[in-house]
Amino acid sequence: MAFELPELPYAYDALGEFMSAETLEYHHDKHHQAYVDNGNKLADAAGMSGNSLEEIVKASFGTNAGLFNNAAQHYNHMHFWHWMAPNGGGTKIPGNLEAAINSDLGGYDKFKADFMAAGATQFGSGWCWIAMKDGKLEIMKTPNGENPLVHGATPILGCDVWEHSYYIDYRNARPKYLEAFVDSLINWEYASELFEKASA
Ligand SMILES: [Fe+2]
Repeated sequence: MAFELPELPYAYDALGEFMSAETLEYHHDKHHQAYVDNGNKLADAAGMSGNSLEEIVKASFGTNAGLFNNAAQHYNHMHFWHWMAPNGGGTKIPGNLEAAINSDLGGYDKFKADFMAAGATQFGSGWCWIAMKDGKLEIMKTPNGENPLVHGATPILGCDVWEHSYYIDYRNARPKYLEAFVDSLINWEYASELFEKASA
């Protein structure tokens, strides 16, 4: 199944000062589009264009770096657009997910500190995550396009800490971007949907 660039689930200017239209235009229309285009070419070349995206991500990890990087980044960004929403962030977390954050991650304040620290200390490009592993939530960080799928876990929430995600709006201040993501952008409803699926 060929990869396709999804529409953003909101207008380019919907995230206001926290993530500008200019950032979303470059990040979605240029960067994500390039992962889709390159991923399709490399999946064809590998004879994997009939496989699902998750299958391609898992099978190419450690065996076909070019395909993995593009397929994983396509997967990560498809979720990333939905991990943000206008008027998002903060403590308005659906009950089951909130309970798991309390029991597994030490509560909201500790989640926020640990998630931001994971993103701030990911050297170079990468992602920070809440992932579900062995039935429990954990904070993870990964380099480049890597994601929890290739570490036996399921992504629940992820934040892109590649410079292309924040440099226009925050310059080099990655921690400020991470704080805005947590306080004002997270779409907890979407994270909760993934949590319910992973728990089922
Ligand atoms: Fe990105």
